[in-house]
Amino acid sequence: MSGPVLEPCLCVIFGATGDLMRRKLLPAIYHLAVQGSLPRQYAILGVSLEAEIDDTKFRGLARQALETTGAFDREPSAAWCDDCLHYQPIGQGDAAAFQALAARIAGLEQTCGLPGNRVFYLALPPEAFPSIISALGEAGLNRSAGWTRLVIEKPFGHDLASARQLNGLAHQYFDEAQIYRIDHYLGKDTVQNLMAFRFGNALFESAWNRDHIERVLITVAEELGIEGRGAYYETAGALRDMVQNHLTQLLTLTAMEVPSAFEADAIRFEKVKVLRSMAPIRPDDAVFGQYTRSEKGRPALPAYREEPRVAPDSKTETYVALRLSIDSWRWQGVPFILRTGKRLPCRLSQIIITFRRPPVSVFKFSNGRTAHPNVLTITLQPNEGFDLTFEVKTPGQPISLRTQHMDFRYADVFGALPEAYQTLLLDVLEGDQTLFVHASEAEASWQLYAPMLERRGPPDPYPAGSWGPAEARRLLGDEAPAE
Ligand code: BG6
Repeated sequence: MSGPVLEPCLCVIFGATGDLMRRKLLPAIYHLAVQGSLPRQYAILGVSLEAEIDDTKFRGLARQALETTGAFDREPSAAWCDDCLHYQPIGQGDAAAFQALAARIAGLEQTCGLPGNRVFYLALPPEAFPSIISALGEAGLNRSAGWTRLVIEKPFGHDLASARQLNGLAHQYFDEAQIYRIDHYLGKDTVQNLMAFRFGNALFESAWNRDHIERVLITVAEELGIEGRGAYYETAGALRDMVQNHLTQLLTLTAMEVPSAFEADAIRFEKVKVLRSMAPIRPDDAVFGQYTRSEKGRPALPAYREEPRVAPDSKTETYVALRLSIDSWRWQGVPFILRTGKRLPCRLSQIIITFRRPPVSVFKFSNGRTAHPNVLTITLQPNEGFDLTFEVKTPGQPISLRTQHMDFRYADVFGALPEAYQTLLLDVLEGDQTLFVHASEAEASWQLYAPMLERRGPPDPYPAGSWGPAEARRLLGDEAPAE
């Protein structure tokens, strides 16, 4: 794979024995290494609280993790682990532990011939962010002889106040240009393609407004439940876990104006403008749901309240549908409907743009049918691609119209798409912040949803494996296309 020449660097990953490292980061880094996309010289330093792990043990764990993913040969991956991976425990994370970490970093940079370019990746639960950020700063690890970048995983706070606090703390030690807030949806090729599609095709962009578009439906449906993450999910719920970040990214990329340049600040500025133009969400425009037990499948699907580490009377929502409005010249009056949920019938992320029907129907149909609207369906996952419907005349007399569709599937043309984490890691190494969330974006998003967080009532029940509570149909209208 050819790409920009990356500068040699050290990646310090906090949470190195955790789930994210094992399942996503390590395979992504290894894959990039095999492709030859990483810098000529680099080293990975895993950091965690676990004192009984050393370099050898850490490399063994990494080998196991890589083998579990299935795509790696035993021999080369073992050699790579031995050459590139290192480990440093930070005990209770006190000042002495961070001084020891600083000394280890300096030592590694010397032995590996690295010039002091550093990435600090916080693959940690959010409650650990503040103490690690301050400890890095206090140990002087926020600056170095080269560049220093801080990578933070979502969620960025759990409401507006905590997001501001976290941003404030990070800015005490790091400049915004050093901070990379990850929303992994931005790393998905199909999500990036939203910009290419909109700003590289004049045909659609000229129709991308209230004059031509009737409504926009953004769906991120998951078939899985909460996968053993009850303790986290009880404090989050679907609004915090999915809507405030992933769905809002899809919304802003769909609605933003054309940026002045294809570069980070210009793009992020346009996304923040969309968030600042959002009308307050009316209580009637929100539906919250929680999945209940379903005996239909084999095996039966448990209720959310039966999941491990979930309160038996939990009021946490596992489904959200919202109707949003954007007060702008481009979008005034066009509903943007967002819905997401766990334990829906399938995994599906889609943006459906329904265009307006012809203003006058010149065709008279015997069956009373009018022309259907053109519908553009952008499928982000799985079976990634586009579908566009249009009306054609069926041959013969009398005249009658039929809806046909044109489609494009990524897999037919490009094969497998890269993993989001590969893209995002490379961007961090390159210093490109386009696909990362700006502080003002995270705060503007919380500002929009903060009132909902406060006034959410108890969620409406829906059977696991169904398309959510019946109440949501009110927002989705007659066409709930994925159903
Ligand atoms: C994560 C959420 O951010 O995104 C999970 O915490 C969710 O609850 C996941 O399952 C969905 O990501 P993807 O890439 O599988 O659509």
